[in-house]
Amino acid sequence: PPPGAAGPPPRVKLVLLGDSGVGKSCLVLRYVRGQFDEASKITVGAAFMSHQVMTPEGKSLKFEIWDTAGQERYLSLAPLYYRGAHAACVVYSIDSRESFEKARYWVDQLQRNAPGSIVIALVANKSDLADRREVPEEEGRSFAEAHRMLFCEASAKTAAGVADIFEGVAMRLT
Ligand code: GTP
Ligand code: MG
Repeated sequence: PPPGAAGPPPRVKLVLLGDSGVGKSCLVLRYVRGQFDEASKITVGAAFMSHQVMTPEGKSLKFEIWDTAGQERYLSLAPLYYRGAHAACVVYSIDSRESFEKARYWVDQLQRNAPGSIVIALVANKSDLADRREVPEEEGRSFAEAHRMLFCEASAKTAAGVADIFEGVAMRLT
């Protein structure tokens, strides 16, 4: 193969899916701008951000991030965003069992309808809310392992684990 052929694609189309309020937009804002928005607004339809990074191997990689709206009324739009995606982050919040159940739904949707090669990361957000935890870390991890997904606990608020999500995805695509 030509030099570099085994490397990650220069552009990675990544989609975020998950219940409204789990922190998808905040994760993107943290990763791309290093900021946190305590009063983050509900996403309408979807939002787009791109972010260029260097991989540990010194290759340039551009994430094209589609941050979907988690509210029920936007459910039918999701396939538009995950259909051509290289990667998906399915996000739940550790303080919401309901959001974890919704994550199961999204994983099922992806496995039925997304490209077979898609890399999926299961993201347990709001790890800073340990005192309100409803989903044990081990439960998230074993669900992820059973479906060959990456798993990260993260906090858009403290930044813990956020970069690991995107770096992990980039590595899987290498
Ligand atoms: P939709 O756009 O409706 O799908 O919601 P979303 O998943 O994009 O949620 P968003 O990022 O807007 O965050 C919802 C709320 O959770 C906001 O009040 C955020 O400040 C808060 N939030 C997001 N991430 C964290 C986190 O890691 N820890 C804590 N404590 N709060 C967070
Ligand atoms: Mg949002």
